[in-house]
Amino acid sequence: MSTPNFYESDRALSEYLLFHYGAPQQNMPWPFGPTTALNYPARCVSECIDTSLLPAQARGLDLGCAVGRSTFELSQYCSEVIGIDYSHRFIEVARHLQEHGSTSYEYIEEGLLTAPATAVVPAEIARQRVTFEQGDAQALRSNLGSFDVVLMANLVDRLPHPGECLKALPALVRLGGQLILTTPCTWLDSYTPQSHWLGGFEQHGRPVRTLATLQAVLAPSFALTRTFDMPFVIREHARKFQWSVAQATVWIRR
Ligand SMILES: C[S@@+](CC[C@H](N)C(=O)[O-])C[C@H]1O[C@@H](n2cnc3c(N)ncnc32)[C@H](O)[C@@H]1O
Repeated sequence: MSTPNFYESDRALSEYLLFHYGAPQQNMPWPFGPTTALNYPARCVSECIDTSLLPAQARGLDLGCAVGRSTFELSQYCSEVIGIDYSHRFIEVARHLQEHGSTSYEYIEEGLLTAPATAVVPAEIARQRVTFEQGDAQALRSNLGSFDVVLMANLVDRLPHPGECLKALPALVRLGGQLILTTPCTWLDSYTPQSHWLGGFEQHGRPVRTLATLQAVLAPSFALTRTFDMPFVIREHARKFQWSVAQATVWIRR
């Protein structure tokens, strides 16, 4: 399978550094473009988390953190945050950002033409609260502990076996803790064999939706408190953008 290696590629690294740390003008240079879709990795925290529910000294976990922007944002509300991603490349760069606060990269303008950029962790972030590690969200290390908030942004439809990841969640989220799960439900065989899709197919002549499966799987341990739509935009080059709408759900561990 070639697609899973996308997250180890130069192109993915450049796109995700821009997506996570780029200025609005760099991510969407067209004034008539979908500007409400900008700043998604920060919005996954600011628009989804209920800070009033978090204890002092909260622990946070960002599964499928890519180059880490949401992980850093979580650290504004948690004294310790772990970001985990399967991509060695992403984690290497996220660690560099944690240690040094910035990194240089190039993003595509057209063909081989690129523009130089610097990804900078916002100055108000206490970077020492954050650690990054390479790992598989479907087989997490057993001594990870439990968390007051777990974020899974646009992860489930990129996993070979999302059900394995969902199974681990009751043990990962503390009683009263929050699980924030967003997904654009882009189910593709190249990432997830059809037999493991959470939605996007028919069963006994009826459509199966991702949200319904999430409810069926999570309901025994979690109460669904919010469902809403979150637009996001990933720039491929100056004239091509992926505009998507993630379905965001917020769950409380019971
Ligand atoms: C669509 S990206 C979303 C990244 C980030 N959460 C965001 O919203 O920008 C999917 C991420 O999941 C990661 N990933 C894929 N399979 C994984 C796995 N088995 N365990 C952990 N992360 C995984 C990829 O490397 C990639 O960073």
